[in-house]
Amino acid sequence: MWSENILETIGNTPLVRLNSLARQFPCTVLAKVEFFNPGASIKDRIGVAMVEAAEREGKLKPGGTIIEGTSGNTGAGLALAAIAKGYHCIFTTTDKQSQEKVDVLRALGAEVIVCPTAVAPDDPRSYYSVARRLEKETPNSVYLNQYDNPANAEAHYRSTGPELWEQTEGRITHYIAGAGTGGTISGTSRYLKEQNPDVQVIGVDPFGSVYHKYFFTREFDQKEIYPYLTEGVGEDILAKNMDFDLVDDYVQVTDRDSMVYTRRLAREEGMFVGQSCGMAMAGAVQWMEANRESLTADHIVVVVLPDSGFRYLSKTYNDSWMRNHGFLSDRPEWTVAEIVSMRRGEPEVLAVSSTETLGDAIDMMSRNGISQVPVIDGEEVVGSLSETVILNTLLSDPDARGSAVGSVMAAAIPVVPPSLHLEHLSAYLEQEPGAVLLKSESGGFRIITKSDLIRALSTGKSEAAISA
Ligand SMILES: Cc1ncc(COP(=O)(O)O)c(C=O)c1O
Repeated sequence: MWSENILETIGNTPLVRLNSLARQFPCTVLAKVEFFNPGASIKDRIGVAMVEAAEREGKLKPGGTIIEGTSGNTGAGLALAAIAKGYHCIFTTTDKQSQEKVDVLRALGAEVIVCPTAVAPDDPRSYYSVARRLEKETPNSVYLNQYDNPANAEAHYRSTGPELWEQTEGRITHYIAGAGTGGTISGTSRYLKEQNPDVQVIGVDPFGSVYHKYFFTREFDQKEIYPYLTEGVGEDILAKNMDFDLVDDYVQVTDRDSMVYTRRLAREEGMFVGQSCGMAMAGAVQWMEANRESLTADHIVVVVLPDSGFRYLSKTYNDSWMRNHGFLSDRPEWTVAEIVSMRRGEPEVLAVSSTETLGDAIDMMSRNGISQVPVIDGEEVVGSLSETVILNTLLSDPDARGSAVGSVMAAAIPVVPPSLHLEHLSAYLEQEPGAVLLKSESGGFRIITKSDLIRALSTGKSEAAISA
């Protein structure tokens, strides 16, 4: 018996007992292993479903172009559907996603446009905005928008949910999953709760995403948004596919735990999976530890593992990458405030104002031997000046010394909360301008750069405690 095309091999993925990572719990813990799909992720399910919905609605016509903003996996699912059905694909993605994901999309014949991660969703450069613009500019094209497209959650309602119900013979009691668009958790949970309203759904969110706080408060808090490394999960928007009413509890996981559990799934369970799988597993362990008393041998907990480890060979499965982010040591999780406390006595950051002339700013920087300054007006950080910006300005306009700093400055250096974890700090420092500011109690600012992080990592916590 054969399949007529690759799309027919999507779904019906195995449900496999976790024998090592969840040994300490009395219940049965099972993993839904989604890398068995032909595009190696759970998103194959929604790729074909969204394409067929667009065909039914007359939005996609023969020879048409599929446009989507994707962290990589949805793109692979759509590319498979496009190949089987004869469409062209253009995908926008962000520079945070691993190179392997972009390579896979290109290998499947798609055009890929990489956009910056560190811009607001409504910024014209964001991968959401570029996808929308491309739809307007490309004849006979459709932007499928997995965030708000009901065919996304519907695909899980029709496939992932029924599979879990059948594979556990209706005995599933807990369903634990991460959420990006929310399609997986919402569609699957809706089906499972229709079969048995007592099924408990636990969402898992990376620190830096808005979902966890929104679940508990129904408040969209911009302050929850900061860069993190775990790919594919968590959001800086509220996707329409995310139905919080179907979720019973939510836990938050650090990048470090996501990466550590991703590797543990590979080494201890033989499941060579991606980062969001480690995050879901870390969240499951966290939740089961906190709710241990409520768990019995009759409970069946299912954790969703969305994709494959092959997409993260240059990251989570690369020792240098892991070491650079501090994920391989057993160092405690420092905060920005602790790192700053290691250099007590140092003055607050030198800054310039946007109304000063560029010439004055250059003189101040060279007097003090600094290569980068924030631009601060009153108490507000409005921009930054670096040697690169100054050089480019002077090259294009030799008379620029007389210009106001405000007319040439670059984007502001981000201001971070004192409680920010070190690993999230390193994610900030990887992006331009490679520095962050911390507001001090006196109202001034301290600047933190890569060299502070290096000093913190190489001196160690004990010395920090002595100097503080
Ligand atoms: C690797 C990975 N895991 C999990 C998810 C989240 O799934 P959903 O978008 O259905 O919430 C995604 C979504 O892009 C993903 O790429």
